[in-house]
Amino acid sequence: MRWQHFLFLLYTVVSESESAKTQNSKRNFPDDFRFGAATAAYQIEGGWNTDGKTESIWDHLTHTNPCAIEDCTNGDVAADSYHLYKRDVEMLRELGLDYYRFSLSWPRILPTGFPDKINKAGVQYYNNLIDELLKYNIEPVVTIYHWDMPQKLQKMGGWTNPYIIDWYTDYAGVAFELFGKKVKKWITINEPYQICDYGYGNKLLANFFNSTGVADYLCAKNVLLAHAKAYHVYDKKYRPNQGGTIFISLSAQYYDYEFKEFKDAAKDANDFTWAIYSYPIFSKYGDFPSSVKERVKAKSIQQGFPRSRLPELTPTEIETIRGSSDYFGLNHYFTFYVYRNESLKGLYPSPSTSDDLEVATYHKEERKGGRMKIGALGFYKLLTKIRNDYDNPPVIITENGFTTKRGLDDDDRVTFLRLYINAMLDAIDDGSDIRSYTVWTMMDNFEWLRGFTVHYGLYEVDFESPERTRTPRKSAFVYKQIVRTRELDWYYEPDTDVLSIDGH
Ligand SMILES: *[C@@H]1O[C@H](CO)[C@@H](O)[C@H](O)[C@H]1NC(C)=O
Ligand SMILES: *[C@@H]1O[C@H](CO)[C@@H](O)[C@H](O)[C@H]1NC(C)=O
Repeated sequence: MRWQHFLFLLYTVVSESESAKTQNSKRNFPDDFRFGAATAAYQIEGGWNTDGKTESIWDHLTHTNPCAIEDCTNGDVAADSYHLYKRDVEMLRELGLDYYRFSLSWPRILPTGFPDKINKAGVQYYNNLIDELLKYNIEPVVTIYHWDMPQKLQKMGGWTNPYIIDWYTDYAGVAFELFGKKVKKWITINEPYQICDYGYGNKLLANFFNSTGVADYLCAKNVLLAHAKAYHVYDKKYRPNQGGTIFISLSAQYYDYEFKEFKDAAKDANDFTWAIYSYPIFSKYGDFPSSVKERVKAKSIQQGFPRSRLPELTPTEIETIRGSSDYFGLNHYFTFYVYRNESLKGLYPSPSTSDDLEVATYHKEERKGGRMKIGALGFYKLLTKIRNDYDNPPVIITENGFTTKRGLDDDDRVTFLRLYINAMLDAIDDGSDIRSYTVWTMMDNFEWLRGFTVHYGLYEVDFESPERTRTPRKSAFVYKQIVRTRELDWYYEPDTDVLSIDGH
């Protein structure tokens, strides 16, 4: 995902040797621990109107408002994975990964948005990819919705229309039916907070609705119910024969406090930005967190609304959502410090989610080790919080990664991966049930509003070349070594010549 973090990307990066001094030089992973890499359909596939695919909200946005994207580009061709999927699988083999997390494009499979018409060519593409993965014993981990809503459904309100719960569940059902014999790990929805807050409450993602404090909360309720309904369809109808697992991927940045007086502010920031999704699913009693319910209701009444702008969940809805995820899928990138004081009164538009939450964030860079190290510590604290708040759920880290400039020598990414994986191992040592780790992303891609201006890939992609040539960065060699040895070695220096496939 990840374009939005450019706001916070003025990194102070520690040198590798400095950060490594405080670490054990080698650490091991639990037996059965698994490693993967992730992508998303719109960001890599291209083939935007090929073989019967129809328009998604991203096609619509980039074609009607091209310079909404930083470099006025679009995902029409992107990394051309619609044609180059065999090379993609070859890269996964070079890295020696256990699984590949990719997403299905809803309008590629269902051109009308509904199951009345199934696009054979689109289905064939995903079958080809899945078969190629299975041929090399790489597990497909499939995200059903990673942000490319059919434009037709968006016109009818998208995630703010409660009928989306049925529309999404029907689409998910088609995916289970078509691919469920081969796919045993399903991710229902990627990053509800970004979908709702950035897409409906701001102009930070398609569909640019910008109705903060209203549409984002409607979206939140519908996304949770759509996820839960698809979960139950899988659980009752497909799991008995197909025997897979199904879960949601939440993005959780960690909000910390430097001064005790801001402890509540930090809790509220975590509640508003991710526990609003995790609490209904993973907590003992379900429902939205009480801090969110109370703050939004009080503000709403103050503002003259007859009821809270945050819709209520009925007891039946609470029960439907509670427990509806086999794993806690976690996407994580950043840690912030927060404060809340008089200076924020009236600072944000009213109504807005920022005004409901009423905190401000900052980074602290002067501490020894720099921001990246503070970030890794935040990751550890986040994993600890998830373990404590939700009775140690099994966690799959579905995204974690770092953006660098173009070029193959991505030492900052190497440092980032080592620090964050190390922090994860600390949480595992403390008892966190973390099952696997996924790098965002396998290769450079179309990074949403940032277009092709930022690079998250283990592989660099040459977007100027018709072949969209993929070349491994230093981080690819380092990650491969971690995966191959099942060991984090701070001092490993790869010979970055050729990344070959082992054992073939
Ligand atoms: C979005 O709406 C807010 C008011 O809630 C407004 O202040 C802001 O300028 C709008 N943003 C854009 C990009 O139109
Ligand atoms: C609010 O807190 C911030 C961060 O600690 C501080 O810089 C600012 O001066 C405070 N403002 C008021 C009015 O207390």
